[in-house]
Amino acid sequence: MVTATPSAFAGDRVWADTVDSRRAIPASLQHADGHDADASGAWAASSASTDRPEVRIALPPPALRLPHGSDPHSSDPDDSDPLGMSTLLYYAVGLTGYDPQADRWPLHRAVASARCLYPTECQVLLPHGIYRYDAAHHHLLRTAELDPGSVARLLDDIGAHAALVVTSRPERTARLYGDYAPRLCAQEAGMTVGALHLTALASGLDVEIHQDPDTLSALCDGWLDADVDADVEYAMAGLAVAPRPGDTTSGQDWIPSELARIVRARHSGPLIFDPGPEPAPRALLDDLALALATSPLPDCSAYLCVNRVSETPCGIYRTTPGCGGWQLVAERDVVPGLERIGQTDGRVSLNFRSAAATVYLAVPRARAVEEYGDDAFRRVHLAAGAAAHRVTIAAACHGLAARVHNGYDAAAAHHALGLSDPGETVVFQLAIGRVGNHAGLRLPVVF
Ligand SMILES: Cc1cc2nc3c(=O)[nH]c(=O)nc-3n(C[C@H](O)[C@H](O)[C@H](O)COP(=O)(O)O)c2cc1C
Repeated sequence: MVTATPSAFAGDRVWADTVDSRRAIPASLQHADGHDADASGAWAASSASTDRPEVRIALPPPALRLPHGSDPHSSDPDDSDPLGMSTLLYYAVGLTGYDPQADRWPLHRAVASARCLYPTECQVLLPHGIYRYDAAHHHLLRTAELDPGSVARLLDDIGAHAALVVTSRPERTARLYGDYAPRLCAQEAGMTVGALHLTALASGLDVEIHQDPDTLSALCDGWLDADVDADVEYAMAGLAVAPRPGDTTSGQDWIPSELARIVRARHSGPLIFDPGPEPAPRALLDDLALALATSPLPDCSAYLCVNRVSETPCGIYRTTPGCGGWQLVAERDVVPGLERIGQTDGRVSLNFRSAAATVYLAVPRARAVEEYGDDAFRRVHLAAGAAAHRVTIAAACHGLAARVHNGYDAAAAHHALGLSDPGETVVFQLAIGRVGNHAGLRLPVVF
């Protein structure tokens, strides 16, 4: 049992406001003055505002191959990083690509981020303190010194050797998106949780996700400061990690055989998502089904609109929590429905005609509100976000881009996809397609 004084955990009202959000693109975006929020801000955040001396730990280079054990030339884990935090952080929150030609949004991380504003941070609780991952330098920066006895008790309580706290700074996204930011930030936090979970499994770690406010408060005790006016950092989820006894992975898990390479290659496509009209391989659907069936926070259903997939009839397919495989709901040309759902200000958001498939993730919103009240919004987005990240990785396994796009009408999606429960809401739209080399120049960033 863990207890702690309340801090800026995610039960805060900021995450409660937009649980019903059915907006597409926010009005604030239409009035943007052409200068997006400075993406570098997301990388510059540090404990600079405090008087504490900066303590930096350079992490060893991340493994170039995952899953763990797939590289015959890999050396033993570094003594300075016995749990492999370097690899875990790099393939989930690390800086993986740099586009020197892009005047806006040149930096890319392992996980997608709306307009590359990167509101998500990862804080690492180690026996000697709490450290923020500095993706730009692949360092850990000490956030606070903590009482080693309390940390040891807390880690012991949750059966962990280390804990990760995924946090969000909505102010970064709000500079561009106004009060639509919490939705984007909660989605990205969920995707980051999914990325950390998948990377931990592939790294040979046992990993458990903690969402409950008591554990989150305990994990944040002594370092997460709720009393600041701007750029508040909110804890969204905790992950407890420990070495896996016997160094085996469960046969039930979905771990792509070249996960490290695939994460480095993942991308969302160019500014306008206009893929080539090539069919995706049938194996994409198998990967998607398994990835979603084994998603760590399973309270989320997926609807798949197949447009161009080899050996697969066009139509709407569905998979529900815990059930592998796709069930055909309706065989039909999906494009007219997609073009009704996926609109931004009355215009179709992307080229659904050439996209291979589009995934919609739906959550039991009404049930979550009943159960968790104000905290429902954070929880449903964690579950859907974790699944969404898996969709992006499953697509990347087949050399395809997956684009999260919030330009859609949730009511139209509910109707067109045939959702029967009025309490269910679509929270993610992801289009999948082959974009060739038109995603911009991506220089790999490897530390
Ligand atoms: C929560 C979320 C919402 C997004 N919404 C949109 C959107 O509405 N329209 C769009 O074109 N891209 C959207 N994106 C895609 C991002 O702009 C894209 O991930 C970003 O440019 C980074 O590119 P990368 O994923 O290739 O690194 C969204 C991404 C996330 C994570």
